[in-house]
Amino acid sequence: MKIFLDTANLDQIKEAASWGILDGVTTNPTLISRENMKFEELVRKICKVVPGPVSVESVSTRAKDIVEEARGLAKLADNIAVKIPIGIEGLKATKILSGEGIKVNTTLVFSSNQALLAAKAGTAFVSPFIGRLDDISHEGMALIDEIVAIYNNYGFETEIIVASIRHPLHVVEAALSGADIATIPFPVLEKMVKHPLTDIGIERFLKDWSKVKR
Ligand code: E4P
Repeated sequence: MKIFLDTANLDQIKEAASWGILDGVTTNPTLISRENMKFEELVRKICKVVPGPVSVESVSTRAKDIVEEARGLAKLADNIAVKIPIGIEGLKATKILSGEGIKVNTTLVFSSNQALLAAKAGTAFVSPFIGRLDDISHEGMALIDEIVAIYNNYGFETEIIVASIRHPLHVVEAALSGADIATIPFPVLEKMVKHPLTDIGIERFLKDWSKVKR
């Protein structure tokens, strides 16, 4: 499973990249708004640090405008994927953009039918938001299982990004489901590395090593 970082924070992105485990980044307007930098400058800098796709969201609402905006975003760097919210206008734009070789990440996906239509329109990535479903007492991970099964049934090449991840168990469930990618907030990524028994074990080994005659 590929690991994307769900942030627009350059320090977090550089740190995760230095661990050697980072495959891509996803941003959204909310994440971008938290950073104190001009939008295009920030995106260019992120794209230089990250080896793989960097998703940046279109904020237009009509297909024609989405296409125009996406073409502009795609020019910012070679590794840009344009996030487009699912909807009729979004599908129309996705069909045109994917035909031009621009990678689309269909976002704000909350049902299998939305994911099916996005794949048919040629989207490169689909982003089901599992945490936001859990928040309203729906089983977010059940949606991932459905989309994995549907895409396997028909051989769609669209990659599934498990999004809106809230805790490390979501990542384990994403990996078990066979999803292609998990996009993870930095604090969750940090928690994934840690285990109290690892810390205790290191402390004990260091203490015992200090007693060894050398
Ligand atoms: C995904 O691409 C989104 O940026 C993100 O996962 C949304 O997560 P949230 O529900 O925590 O805002």
